[in-house]
Amino acid sequence: MLEPPGSPASPASPSVLPNPLREGLAEERVPEPAVMVIFGASGDLAHRKLLPALYSLTRDRLLPARFAIVGFARRAVSDDAFREEMRAACNEFARRRPIDAALWSAFARNIFYHQGEYEDLASFLSLRQRLGDIERDLGLHGNRVFYLATPPSSFASVIRSLGQAELAPRPPPPTAPRPAGPPPPFARVIIEKPFGTDLETARALNRDIHETLDERQIYRIDHYLGKETVQNLVVFRFANGIFEPIWNNRFVDHVQITGAESIGVEGRGGYFEQAGSMRDMVQNHLLQVLSLFAMEPPVTFDADAVRDEKLKVLKALRTIPESDFEQHVVRAQYTAGSIGGQAVPGYRQEPNVSPSSTTETFVALKLHIDSWRWAGVPFYLRSGKRLPKRVTEIAVYFKEAPHLLFGRRGESIRPNVLAIRIQPDEGIALNFGSKLPGPTMEIAPVSMEFRYGSSFGVEPPEAYERLILDCLLGDSTLFTRADEVEASWTWVSRIHRRWAEEAADGRSRLDSYPAGSWGPPSVRTMIVGASPPGSGRTWITASWPW
Ligand code: BG6
Repeated sequence: MLEPPGSPASPASPSVLPNPLREGLAEERVPEPAVMVIFGASGDLAHRKLLPALYSLTRDRLLPARFAIVGFARRAVSDDAFREEMRAACNEFARRRPIDAALWSAFARNIFYHQGEYEDLASFLSLRQRLGDIERDLGLHGNRVFYLATPPSSFASVIRSLGQAELAPRPPPPTAPRPAGPPPPFARVIIEKPFGTDLETARALNRDIHETLDERQIYRIDHYLGKETVQNLVVFRFANGIFEPIWNNRFVDHVQITGAESIGVEGRGGYFEQAGSMRDMVQNHLLQVLSLFAMEPPVTFDADAVRDEKLKVLKALRTIPESDFEQHVVRAQYTAGSIGGQAVPGYRQEPNVSPSSTTETFVALKLHIDSWRWAGVPFYLRSGKRLPKRVTEIAVYFKEAPHLLFGRRGESIRPNVLAIRIQPDEGIALNFGSKLPGPTMEIAPVSMEFRYGSSFGVEPPEAYERLILDCLLGDSTLFTRADEVEASWTWVSRIHRRWAEEAADGRSRLDSYPAGSWGPPSVRTMIVGASPPGSGRTWITASWPW
């Protein structure tokens, strides 16, 4: 069993010394004792993300003293062999490496493995028995989190089996009188992405899982919401009085949201062929970032209040006009090129990719949010693989000064841009024009910057750490609700339908770009084409500070 935080046996190391910047702040909440079952424990996600996140939480003393992990998968593996695999995974992928040997041996004592089939009720009945034994031995009270890190085709059947084996009883209705004594144990289910592949499949999955679970038990993961900088968007907007008044169509000219990656499909060709960038990055991550950026201030920072506001943004996305589709949607695929001086193959040459594939590895969109706040403000979203560098950022372009006293239009004055860098080099920068020293009124762009690294001196935790912790605490603010997922699929599926129609009558348009470039030329005209010459409007290509 793990020692409680602060006990003499908990190894203290310099890396877990208290952060002086947090002094005087409220203590972190520690979840109730619980067991987490990971379905798909043999997979990549469990190795690269989940176990390393659980280890880091333990190391930061954020998990309860009594906590157990049960890996569930098809392979026959002993508890000890599974622990060894997980040790190797944490040594390779945990945020702080190498792992601490003393801490690991305490942590590993509560890791177990259960062999089973996802479609087989008997496997779930034996899991129930096993959980009962573990809980009795460790003095746990029956709180359970089930993590679905399986292929999406198994989501519905795992949840059905959890229900049939009575492993995930629904909580009492929120209106029920609270019984005296401790609350009943909880059963929560974390569901990985992708949640459906279009509106119909997402709806069907929601229907299936609601047959067993109450929405309050469901935690749909979008790991972007666990990123510190994405959460900071809300703080930036609502904890500072000066930004909210300018966060609207009176001051904002347009907004660019970029999710660029330099990696290719990394051996996931089979999956990516079915997904494409639109499903892989836009439907979930970028639309979630957009909705946090654009939402109205919620009444409180609780899960439903925040998600109600995000939902309104997703519902207000204007359907892309049929007649002007190509000015609003660009899709493209990378060909061979080079990244950082290294030659890389084109998408069609990647393993498990068809040599005539028409799957997009890049997508750029121009969209509008039909609301009072954002009427008339274009939002540009782009995401792609094999772009020159990894960068996720939001760039807010402000309108020009109404009357220009200096210089000729566009010659030396650039629009003010606020760049919120989500990753890497997390931070925020604001650029503005400043007088160049000297006798003339020449203007140069300069910038003010905040960088997480230098301001706080700590590395941000991994998104999965925050999300697992929130689920254990019963806080679903950073998880997507059924109606949000359906609203974003409603919008995205219209685009997929249009692509399917075009493919059916041989009008498909798929641009290409060499790996290592910022996408096809058509994406430049999407922004620049619509702007007056010399307006300074261009994609921000990870070039800040200017
Ligand atoms: C995943 C996608 O959801 O997000 C991947 O499936 C993508 O294709 C990844 O590479 C990007 O996440 P991050 O955290 O590296 O920006």
